[in-house]
Amino acid sequence: MSVDLLATRARAMLAHSYAPYSRFRVGAAIESVTGAVFAGCNVENASYGLTICAERSAVAQAVAGGHRRFRRLVIVTDSDRAVAPCGACCQVVAEFAADTQVFSFGNTEEKRWQLTDLLPNAFQLADAAGSGGGDK
Ligand code: THU
Repeated sequence: MSVDLLATRARAMLAHSYAPYSRFRVGAAIESVTGAVFAGCNVENASYGLTICAERSAVAQAVAGGHRRFRRLVIVTDSDRAVAPCGACCQVVAEFAADTQVFSFGNTEEKRWQLTDLLPNAFQLADAAGSGGGDK
């Protein structure tokens, strides 16, 4: 799927964003190496720290759908600037695909990065104590 179509999928998620506290709506779409696409939105909570970002919501959808290898992540907000995914979301995406391309669209700006540029030294499965570096 083209990046523009991925952005359309991510933008559609803005309507489902639950952001009564920040009023900052975020949509995300993640594309697996098979071409399957999964979308998500931010889901806030009265206990603020429980908020789930759009990117992690999309990753959870993908993993629940049986997809763990990703090639592109697209983020859309309704702010002017193109925002980068937060560090927690970079870490979660890196768990499955450290070399994912990341695209971000604001109303008046677009940006793209490699995930490794945003999080060059992600903590990995093999780093986790006691994991033995097992299979994903
Ligand atoms: N948010 C995301 O969904 N993704 C990010 O990468 C950064 C922040 C959400 C969390 C919260 O609902 C709102 O944006 C403001 O932080």
